[in-house]
Amino acid sequence: MRPASFLLLVTPLTLARAGITPRASYADVTVSLRKDLLSDWYSDIDSDDSDIEGPNDPAGFYSCVGPMIEDYPQKNEWLSFKTMWAINEPDITLANGGDSYNTHLREAIEEISVKSKVDARLILTLVLQEVWHRSLTFWVISTANKVESSGNMSIGCTGKTDCGILQHRGSRKFDRNQPKQSITNMLIDGIYGTAPNPAPGTPYGWPGYLHLFNGFQEGLEWLGDAQFWRGNPYAAGHLYNAGSIGSENLTTMDGGVERSRYYANDMVSRLQGWNGRGEGCLKSRQCRAHGFEGRVCY
Ligand SMILES: *[C@@H]1O[C@H](CO)[C@@H](O)[C@H](O)[C@H]1NC(C)=O
Ligand SMILES: *[C@@H]1O[C@H](CO)[C@@H](O)[C@H](O)[C@H]1NC(C)=O
Repeated sequence: MRPASFLLLVTPLTLARAGITPRASYADVTVSLRKDLLSDWYSDIDSDDSDIEGPNDPAGFYSCVGPMIEDYPQKNEWLSFKTMWAINEPDITLANGGDSYNTHLREAIEEISVKSKVDARLILTLVLQEVWHRSLTFWVISTANKVESSGNMSIGCTGKTDCGILQHRGSRKFDRNQPKQSITNMLIDGIYGTAPNPAPGTPYGWPGYLHLFNGFQEGLEWLGDAQFWRGNPYAAGHLYNAGSIGSENLTTMDGGVERSRYYANDMVSRLQGWNGRGEGCLKSRQCRAHGFEGRVCY
């Protein structure tokens, strides 16, 4: 979810560059992760370079690393994709009322990861993070065991503009008549960004997670000159959520989005085996040096 203030920042600069259309490249599917980032942050989906076992209790697991950007671990401390998938697949099934879309999702993640070189575990993390947020209340009310809706393909939009399983501005939505294609499209929109399109609030398109991760100045001028966040997947997640980033302390709230304080730690926790449930959230309140004491958990 991105706040409206983000848009206000974008518009004047974009207009100032009238005649140039750098933002058309947001939806460019030929872009991939910077080569200098690959060794720290990318493995093939089937790679067995992680043999870390998942936590015994994925619901109650939470990582309190951080809060400074350099404290968050590289991929050698993440679970393998296979292990992450096994932890989260039951909830994805639950969130969709059956497993009909699971293979589509897994294959679409693989396809886009191979092309974009955004690690499949990061893509899965974003899917779980974004959809979790949207449907939280629905699930909390409707289920006794407090299962949150992780990966419900039919997720609605936040506001009128932030749609699809990555809740990206201007993103396409799920189409149950073309499940495989539309799941792929929703991931493409969130990872590569959206082209200029007439969706409300999206006249110039919107950068995807990959752009925020690469952190090139070109096309992200409105984020200023600070360098510390460029090329970091957790900072990119924070930006994806908040639309801005002001501090190397990633638990600092930005863009008026409360959840931006937790986003980086939620990401690393999922990459290490948290399944997004309330017990882990409760545990996060005990993270020292993070200021999470007052976090609202369900
Ligand atoms: C998925 O989300 C849609 C839209 O909010 C909702 O109508 C549907 O009931 C959800 N599916 C499940 C299984 O909860
Ligand atoms: C990081 O930011 C949070 C939120 O502002 C704050 O509570 C915490 O003390 C900060 N931690 C460090 C080490 O600066």
